[in-house]
Amino acid sequence: MAPVSTHIGAEAGAIAPLVLMPGDPLRARWIAETFLDDATCYSEVRGMLGYTGTWQGRPVSVQGSGMGQPSMAIYVNELFRDYDVQSVIRVGSCGALSERLALRDLVIASGACTDSSMNRITFEGLDYAPVADFGLLRAAADAAPEAHVGLILSADSFYATRPELTTRMAEHGVLAIEMEASALYTIAARHGRRALAVCTVSDHIVTGEETTAAEREQTFGRMVEVALTAGLG
Ligand code: ADE
Repeated sequence: MAPVSTHIGAEAGAIAPLVLMPGDPLRARWIAETFLDDATCYSEVRGMLGYTGTWQGRPVSVQGSGMGQPSMAIYVNELFRDYDVQSVIRVGSCGALSERLALRDLVIASGACTDSSMNRITFEGLDYAPVADFGLLRAAADAAPEAHVGLILSADSFYATRPELTTRMAEHGVLAIEMEASALYTIAARHGRRALAVCTVSDHIVTGEETTAAEREQTFGRMVEVALTAGLG
């Protein structure tokens, strides 16, 4: 059978109803090898690896999203439109904007602000509020009582040219910054599907601290457990 989508080289039926999405495709491979049974690779197109296996006997896929909303949008559009995926949970890293957050903390994004023009173009200047699926949000919060639940900022630039705007967001309760959730939430809503972003704090914008690679791997594991529990619970 031929692949059914442009950027994901998988046949129809090769992708599970629940997909975990790390930004880094090598993280997708690590999740598949560490957490899934009988995982097989369904796509290597552009090195954006995707795997399907089982967790506690139930099918799950893991698909890299790449960095930034345009890349996330390509993959998640195809997952919903071409593979009938029902739920996507982003598992990624974020930078802490709030002094209440510490390195390695978990953040569950109830909603995602953005400086991207993607939704401004879609909604012709109206401000759409991208939010998580409430069922997934509640399940993740139950699975991770230690997590912070609240707003994040999906920024288009990792290296901010206007850091004072990020500070203003923080002054309005935004907990952390990452680069993908706003597009994920918007596109899931458009397709009537479920989405959630769970992130671990890899760097602290206020204190300047950063995690080591070993620490990131450890906290990444906890985040994957929370995502699998929420997605399949
Ligand atoms: N992801 C992790 N840390 C980040 C930061 N400081 N800005 C944007 N995305 C991030």
